[in-house]
Formats: sequence, C-alpha cells, structure tokens
Amino acid sequence: MAVETDNEDEISITSVYDNKEILTSGNTEIDKKMGGGIPSGSLTLIEGANDTGKSVLTQQLTWGGLQQGFTFALYTTENTIKSLLKQMESLSLDVSDYFILGNLKIYPIHVEGIEWAADIPFLDYIVADVKVKHEEVIVLDSLTVFVTDADESDILSFFTECKNLCDSGKTILITVHTFAFNEELLTRVRSICDAHLSLKKEEVGEKLVKTMEVAKIRGAQKTTGNVIAFEVEPQFGLRIIPVSKAKL
Ligand SMILES: Nc1ncnc2c1ncn2[C@@H]1O[C@H](COP(=O)(O)OP(=O)(O)OP(=O)(O)O)[C@@H](O)[C@H]1O
Ligand SMILES: [Mg+2]
Repeated sequence: MAVETDNEDEISITSVYDNKEILTSGNTEIDKKMGGGIPSGSLTLIEGANDTGKSVLTQQLTWGGLQQGFTFALYTTENTIKSLLKQMESLSLDVSDYFILGNLKIYPIHVEGIEWAADIPFLDYIVADVKVKHEEVIVLDSLTVFVTDADESDILSFFTECKNLCDSGKTILITVHTFAFNEELLTRVRSICDAHLSLKKEEVGEKLVKTMEVAKIRGAQKTTGNVIAFEVEPQFGLRIIPVSKAKL
C-alpha cells in the first residue's frame, strides 16, 4: 500500500482487504505449511486416492478465500448445490451467505446417465465455460470423470489452457484421483501446474490418518516436502494432528 500515514491502525485495516496476493484456507496450520497459502494466479493440482480429503481441502480453501473477499466459481461432479452447501455447513465451513450474495457460484456437473463417447470434448467444454466466468477463483472437484477416457495429449492441452488462464489472472484449483493418471502423465501435468498438493491415507500405529504433502508451490521453495496430518470430524471440519505425534 503506497499511502503514507501516521495512523498504523489504518494501514493494517486497509492491507487486510488489499491482500489478495495469496489464497488462504483460513486454517493457520495448513497455510503455514504452504508458505502462507496458494499464490493468486496459480494452477493447483490436488491429487489423492478415494476418500483422502480432496473435496474437504478444496472446501476449506473456498471458505478461506471467500472470507478474504475472493469470488469463486465451483464446479462439482460430486454434489448438488444443496448437498454441497449442507456438507460445508456440517464441517463448520458455512458459505451460504456468500452463495446468496453471489460471491460463490456453484455449478454441478452431472455426467451420470450420459452415454459416454470418447469424441465428446468435455475438457474443451470446461475450458470454454471457465473462460467466460468473471470469478477470480475457479474450483473443479473433480476432474477424474473427464480424464479417465481422454487422450493424454488432450489432458495436457487442458492443463496448458488452464495455465494460460492463470497467467491472465485466474486462480484455478483442480482435484483428481491419483488412479486417473499414470506416473509419467502425472509428472507432466505436475510440471504444468504451479502447485501440487498430494493427499494420502497413512497408517500411524493402529490409526489411519490423512496426510497432505505440499509437493510443489511455485515461488515458495521452502515449503516443498512439507507434510501435514489431519482428520475430518463432523461438526468441526479439518483437524490437524501434530506431526510429531503422527510420526510421519
Ligand atoms: N460433512 C462431513 N462430516 C464428517 N466427515 C466428513 C464430512 N465430509 C467428509 N467427511 C469425511 O472426510 C473424509 C474425506 O472426504 P472427501 O470427500 O474430502 O474425500 P475425497 O478425497 O474428496 O473423496 P472422493 O475420492 O470420494 O471424492 C472422508 O473420510 C469423509 O468421511
Ligand atoms: Mg471428493
């Protein structure tokens, strides 16, 4: 902020509203591991097996970002508008006010029942739709159904197109099931993305915990390899388990 003033309070209040350089989750521990959050204008891949917390993590980032004043367009293949709002509320991530205000738009995509045809360019449709959205942050949860039968070259050009949108200012978060990409394709997709969060389920003693590895965040080298362990609790949401206790 360039305004010079002797009033320090005024500076801090204004800078809170100015700070859209980074997208935060609103959960201090998670943000810390990511070096503060996800830089705006990034393409982020959130990848993990079934039930590793991909959706909950994107919901947490959506909640955090809405509090910061970002506008969101969220595409979901897993929920209806109603079930998503209810799900988030049950995790203490109530965003219904933002939905009513129009800061959060929700687009359910239901592909069940559609005769699958490899020649329907779903990925192109998604990019074309995202291009005309005015929202600052785009969330796609999840991409899996669109990539399982797609050509590798189409998948790579989808991510490249998303990256171009990010270069022109959008922040894009995409979840995908790890099984959807082979190792080589994952490496190539990852290299297009600015950030890569890898979610896993790991056994700690008798207990199965979820882990998030900050595999990559462009511009925040120090965060690479950071791991956080967490559980998802009803009525509470994402609960961090201290790493020393989790012995990761
Ligand atoms: N509203 C909720 N209340 C309690 N637990 C929940 C809630 N929503 C999700 N969970 C739990 O959080 C965990 C992670 O769920 P999440 O849907 O984020 O996983 P995911 O990786 O997106 O799974 P999928 O591969 O099925 O899309 C699950 O164990 C689920 O039971
Ligand atoms: Mg999910």
